[in-house]
Amino acid sequence: MENLGVGLIGTGYMGKCHALAWNAVKPVFNDGPRPRLIHLGEVSAALAAERAAAFGFERSSGDWRAVVADPDVDVVSITTPNQFHAEMAIAALEAGKHVWCEKPMAPTFADAEKMRAAAQQAGKIAALGYNYIQNPAIRHIAKLLGEKAIGAISHVRLEMDEDFMADPDAPFSWKSEASSGHGALDDFGVHPLSLVTTLFGAVERVMTHQAKPYADRPLQGGGRRAVETYDIATTLFELQSGVPGVIALNRSAWGRKGRLTLQIYGSRGSIVFDQERMNELQLYTIDGRATEQGFRTVLTAPHHPPYDRFIPAPGHGLGFNDLKVIECRQLMNLIAGKPAIAITFEEGIEIERCVHAMALSHKEGRWATVRSLA
Ligand SMILES: NC(=O)c1ccc[n+]([C@@H]2O[C@H](COP(=O)([O-])OP(=O)(O)OC[C@H]3O[C@@H](n4cnc5c(N)ncnc54)[C@H](O)[C@@H]3O)[C@@H](O)[C@H]2O)c1
Repeated sequence: MENLGVGLIGTGYMGKCHALAWNAVKPVFNDGPRPRLIHLGEVSAALAAERAAAFGFERSSGDWRAVVADPDVDVVSITTPNQFHAEMAIAALEAGKHVWCEKPMAPTFADAEKMRAAAQQAGKIAALGYNYIQNPAIRHIAKLLGEKAIGAISHVRLEMDEDFMADPDAPFSWKSEASSGHGALDDFGVHPLSLVTTLFGAVERVMTHQAKPYADRPLQGGGRRAVETYDIATTLFELQSGVPGVIALNRSAWGRKGRLTLQIYGSRGSIVFDQERMNELQLYTIDGRATEQGFRTVLTAPHHPPYDRFIPAPGHGLGFNDLKVIECRQLMNLIAGKPAIAITFEEGIEIERCVHAMALSHKEGRWATVRSLA
């Protein structure tokens, strides 16, 4: 693989995370050339220059179009708010670049479809920021399910809760604007859906209820603005395999910091995972004597790949940013034509289809069939 030239648009929470990943992927995996950090774009030239110096990019610009047009850039990381993803990703693909775009694809299904079509047309790699599927613990859960360690799956439950919007006086941000999407569904819902589709396959139908805990939020310049998105969403779903499930989401759940839980119940046991304790999983099987049965904690270790690429010592633990390094490596594998664990625009559109079916279900107060969304 040639030394990839990297462009980065946006340098907030996720922008820094992508920059760390591009910087770390060579020392961690050491099986390809070091990516070259070429061009960083932000909303102003001054901010872009400051971040480029901190993140190690050669040049910077206050106009994202300069990043996309740069002939030395081969792949563009897009880490801007949701409403910019479609325009930026399509422009990058049309300029012949590979794309690594943060989730969700776009606030509307029509725009997500345009992104998928642009990737297909360009024949370039376009992957989405679904970091949680990269956790060695989640990969091991996939292996356990493949080995039928807990028998036939009968019920799946997922929850994603954080408290960054729990304070009624937290300032109004782009996350409360309708232009960013539905709210918790796009912001959070896509993550549990990435686990569902990776571990269990496609969703057949959904029944969703959304709620706004607070009607308005304070504006920075004074006054308050009506909240346009839903911070809470609860969904019943049914997989195409017939297995039933539940997804509960809350961006206003005091005390929850990075909770993304997965409970899987089967005919011979159960598996439980929580992202707040991302270096372990709980396994219950009915093997052995009933008198000693109980959930056991399995700590991730070098025998849970690719944990070994980070640390030789078992149970010492990876962190959130490490998942992005693994995701970055998977993107580079895709670009090199190698097998990879990743969610491309082609697969990501199915997650978008679920999210928009959930919103439709809430709006119309009925079950919505995911495939009915064209
Ligand atoms: N994968 C994950 O776990 C995860 C976690 C958080 C956020 N996200 C996603 O990442 C994206 C960004 O979220 P965030 O929390 O990093 O937001 P953020 O507000 O922290 O950062 C966004 C950045 O984009 C910049 N920006 C905005 N408009 C721009 C433009 N026109 N040109 C160039 N730069 C521009 C802003 O100045 C800011 O630095 C969202 O789509 C969000 O859903 C993903």
